[in-house]
Amino acid sequence: MAKPKVFITRKLPEEVVSPFRNQLDIDMWPEEEKAVPRQTMLEKCKDMDGVVTMLSDKIDEQLLGQAPSLKIVCNLAVGYDNIDLDAAQKHGVTVTNTPDVLTDTTADLTFGLLMATARRLVEANQYIKDGKWNHWSPLLLAGKDIHHKTIGIVGMGRIGEAVAKRATGFEMEILYHNRSRKQDAERNLGATYVEMDELLERSDFVVCMTPLTDETREMFDEQAFRKMKKDAMFINGSRGQTVNEGDLYDALVKGEIAAAGLDVFEKEPIGKDHPLLKLDQVVCLPHIGSASVETRHEMMKLCLDNLDLYFQEKQPKTVVI
Ligand code: DGY
Repeated sequence: MAKPKVFITRKLPEEVVSPFRNQLDIDMWPEEEKAVPRQTMLEKCKDMDGVVTMLSDKIDEQLLGQAPSLKIVCNLAVGYDNIDLDAAQKHGVTVTNTPDVLTDTTADLTFGLLMATARRLVEANQYIKDGKWNHWSPLLLAGKDIHHKTIGIVGMGRIGEAVAKRATGFEMEILYHNRSRKQDAERNLGATYVEMDELLERSDFVVCMTPLTDETREMFDEQAFRKMKKDAMFINGSRGQTVNEGDLYDALVKGEIAAAGLDVFEKEPIGKDHPLLKLDQVVCLPHIGSASVETRHEMMKLCLDNLDLYFQEKQPKTVVI
């Protein structure tokens, strides 16, 4: 029997891919950094049985409508806002993602970003590299304490809870807002559920970990920033489109909030002229939440396992629909 034809939309390490080559007829985009152009993607998918996608690949009605043999899309991310689930359902296409394997890695990065923002680590590093360290003074690059402060986590999914767990080590008060109450987090981590307004008003660090949906799109806007404390810091480890970036910029410039740490942006990648990059009080990262070598390998393996299981007529491990 012919092997199922599978397209991987980015060059992945051969050591991860090769164990699957016996079972799957794999066509892999040869570039590691450059995304496959949309037109090529449309062409490639026309006769594929499965595809491994990156969060930068759009899987929509146009693509699915032209890919009659496509049966499964395995997204190399826990988020799947790049995939039109209604269209996938309509075309009978299974969608998988990569939860769990990235939880701790993403929480580490998010907490690290919070720390870098609060204690001005990036600015301090640049200060030395620019040759400016020629004196010591009591308030030189003084930041904001993290320990014993209040963290407000918006989106208490697995990663949100893992961020909360890290906050317990800093003896922080933990507030959260989520669609549903998380009894385990309340019991085990001492987290307190609050309404969104209360979270915004009381938190020293507002941390966005919510998935991008129609309800969460631009939930952090002018009104939300205005409700936050003037010395509050906003950290985003989920999706850039949960934020109105123009409103965030204004809030920072007007001093309505003190600082921001952003791993994600409205439209990625951002260029060096992005307005938020001009502000010293903003720490920016290029969407590296789950980017440790170990975790990225686990994510890749999980995508390929899911494909393999599907074509063996077994249940993939992490099905979205
Ligand atoms: C995810 O998995 O959704 C992350 O954003 C990728 O790093």
